[in-house]
Amino acid sequence: PAPGWEHEADVVVVGSGVAGLTVALRCAAQGAKVTVVTKARLDDGSTRWAQGGIAAALGEGDTPEQHLDDTLVAGAGLCDEEAVRTLVTEGPDAVRRLIATGAHFDTSETTGEILLTREGGHHRRRIAHAGGDATGLEISRALIEAVGEAGIEFIENALVLDLLTDAEGRAAGVTLHVMGEGQRDGVGAVRARAVVLATGGMGQVFSATTNPAVSTGDGVALALRAGAEVSDLEFVQFHPTVLFLGPDAEGQQPLVSEAVRGEGAFLVDADGVRFMQGQHELAELAPRDIVAKGITRRMQETGTEHMYLDGRHFGPRMWERRFPTILAACRANGIDPVTQPIPVAPAAHYASGGVRTDLHGRTTVPGLYACGEVACTGVHGANRLASNSLLEGLVFAERIAADIAEHPASPGAPVVPDPSRFPLLPAGARFEIQRIMTRGAGVLRSEASLDGAAGALGRMYADAAELLERDGKTAEPCVESWEATNLCLVARILVEAARRREETRGCHWREDRPERDDENWRRHIVVRLPSGAA
Ligand code: SIN
Repeated sequence: PAPGWEHEADVVVVGSGVAGLTVALRCAAQGAKVTVVTKARLDDGSTRWAQGGIAAALGEGDTPEQHLDDTLVAGAGLCDEEAVRTLVTEGPDAVRRLIATGAHFDTSETTGEILLTREGGHHRRRIAHAGGDATGLEISRALIEAVGEAGIEFIENALVLDLLTDAEGRAAGVTLHVMGEGQRDGVGAVRARAVVLATGGMGQVFSATTNPAVSTGDGVALALRAGAEVSDLEFVQFHPTVLFLGPDAEGQQPLVSEAVRGEGAFLVDADGVRFMQGQHELAELAPRDIVAKGITRRMQETGTEHMYLDGRHFGPRMWERRFPTILAACRANGIDPVTQPIPVAPAAHYASGGVRTDLHGRTTVPGLYACGEVACTGVHGANRLASNSLLEGLVFAERIAADIAEHPASPGAPVVPDPSRFPLLPAGARFEIQRIMTRGAGVLRSEASLDGAAGALGRMYADAAELLERDGKTAEPCVESWEATNLCLVARILVEAARRREETRGCHWREDRPERDDENWRRHIVVRLPSGAA
């Protein structure tokens, strides 16, 4: 839609999690005028829900090289080694700067050193945490406070719609749909010399996910509409241990952090058998894709809907002190982990792919950057190593801020977007998309299931397109219809990539192609839509 109001900044940052706020702080420190726009409140994204922590080689005897090795193994042959090296070598200092910004991590009462835990795929204790299991909440609190102190301007309740570009195709700002309690309501625009997407993930493309309701793939959809390249969308990570609330549970589900296994809880089936033993040298602490597969297989073998995570031996004090968030969430749902094993099952958790960037966070559209879960920097490959995501947000945010300062851009006047470009889906389509994706492109996929999903999603899009073409009609533009439209677009591309990848690798699991095929598939699936085609 054509903007009704305009706002100007040097840098517009879209999203307010660890990635977005770190970019904003570092750009502001360099003297740039920054505007942060965010779909709901500043603290409503995924960052605040992160439990386990942030991985970095901070402990005695640990090195970036060991962190690199674990990351590459988890990534199942598809990590970009240079990107991983950047992550793990710059990571420890980035965490120290986060601490200097005001985040408090859990420390030893005796030595004052940062306490480190283990998670899946890590051969060492390497995960710093805060508030026991509320790491993201603390990081979010500290960054929001710092943004306030720095006087950075922000617009809340602002859903990003499209990228504005100049006549040469350089990013020149974004259009927004601001609603209700926004500073300015209706469709508007922020013009800027650089645009940073930090919109988080797309977990809401599935029915059950650990992601909050706002994770609807808006950044990837915007990038696709703008003609940027996206990569690796088929690699959706399913977290192995999500509190099981019934087979039909929908929306955001409570996470039971891998750190619970890192501290010694173990997985058992209904008969108490520790089924992960013997499947991998790290058993319950194998990389996440392997544990999610182990659980799913065991559920199939035993005809059950979930497995159990047993941490009763921790005792009440440890549960209260170390995992207060998880303890409260379990108890709120009628499970007491002190006396009962926790029913768990995999649920959608993290998009390992996203908008393709280089090592400076630059996308293939000049002036457009991507950072955090929305980005595909190459560090995750086919399966992200646990707790590397907050770290990626921090490290690449700093690189983006440096790049913006080093290469100041001056885009020309933005081309006014054509309001009739593409069809909007009705708000209610969200739930249908989630069911289609859960059935067809979930933890276990096959050619037939993916074909079914592709067909159903294609029909949804075609119906909306036909309505627009034939009658000039589209769904009422509102946040929910935009979200459904974005979900449908990213779901279609995800399914297409999953159909093309005829092998099993990392978190892409094909029942009909159970082997990893390095000869043909040690490569990325990169998609770029012609601008305006979505
Ligand atoms: C967890 O705490 O298990 C989640 C950590 C992550 O997703 O990296």
